[in-house]
Amino acid sequence: VKNKSAYTYDDVQLVPKYSEIASRKEVDLTSYITEDKKISLPFIASPMDTVCETMMSLMLSEKGGIGCIHRFMSIEAQTDMISTIKKINKNNMTMAAIGANGDFFERALELSNVGIDFILIDVAHGHHKNVKDALSVLKSRINIPIIAGNIATAKAGLDLVDWGSDCLRVGIGGGSLCSTRIQTGFGIPNISTIQNISEALDLNNIGIPIIADGGIRSSGDIAKALAAGADTVMLGSLLAGTYESPGDILKSGHKVYRGSASLATKTAHGQKERNIEGVSTKIKYKGTVSKIIDDLSDGLRSAFSYAGARNISQYHAKAEFVYVTNAGTQEAKPHLIE
Ligand code: XMP
Repeated sequence: VKNKSAYTYDDVQLVPKYSEIASRKEVDLTSYITEDKKISLPFIASPMDTVCETMMSLMLSEKGGIGCIHRFMSIEAQTDMISTIKKINKNNMTMAAIGANGDFFERALELSNVGIDFILIDVAHGHHKNVKDALSVLKSRINIPIIAGNIATAKAGLDLVDWGSDCLRVGIGGGSLCSTRIQTGFGIPNISTIQNISEALDLNNIGIPIIADGGIRSSGDIAKALAAGADTVMLGSLLAGTYESPGDILKSGHKVYRGSASLATKTAHGQKERNIEGVSTKIKYKGTVSKIIDDLSDGLRSAFSYAGARNISQYHAKAEFVYVTNAGTQEAKPHLIE
């Protein structure tokens, strides 16, 4: 057994660099979902049934990002959502999740018939024969960019690219509701995961973009994920509990946020109550997600300014981490002693 160290968001800080950025407006946050498809805000709403349906997707599009419609519904319901989003504004880019078995192919076909822009294979362990087989069928029969994951290693990244994936969804067990690492012991802290995969792609001159998924709690974490080599980030908890997230406001003033592999989600969708690898929680209702997205993008623009970067390629080139001690982590948080 080889042992290596691995780091996550709180273990690192970014090194401030000489900057000539006079205002946050000078920063261009445009990034890539696939090698030739751009978005102007690198945020993707997570395909979870308490995060992204029509309203969330529309709001993300309005801000320049994209929402990924979850797959815990009939094919008809999912395609209806995509059609609605397209109808409201024909320029809206759309993304939806499918599985890697069962009705996945029929679902992908129907989604492509209503003009979907990206299909995401939503699987907990993406470095798997099921995903390889699904990619082989999809790539040979449907001409839509495919995002595959989730993965945590360089080898998985290179294999998925080999199997035809147009974008990699990276991060295993790091989500705020994940219990995978407790349940199974598997997973790699997110900064190292992103760095390992990104470096492997670079070394092999592969330009396939990376989505950093799970564990992002602030614009600072987004800045760190992109600095580690991600092109976009996927957000769950930050967008949950809002007006645009699916679900009712409870009497207590909260909204439910539940893991896709939680008992609550499995029960709600009539799945077998086995292999529970997620939890369910309640989030204090936050109002519209619009302000949250604006605050996150403002924070990210500031981060680019600290890096002296006007755009994502300069940011990737200039970003540098230091690893911090526990004292450094404490210092990074408000810590005034009165
Ligand atoms: P955040 O931290 O943004 O994470 O709330 C969202 C991501 O968490 C993943 N996810 C899960 N992982 N069990 C898991 O191990 C689950 O039940 C579960 N549900 C969501 C997913 O990658 C999502 O984008």
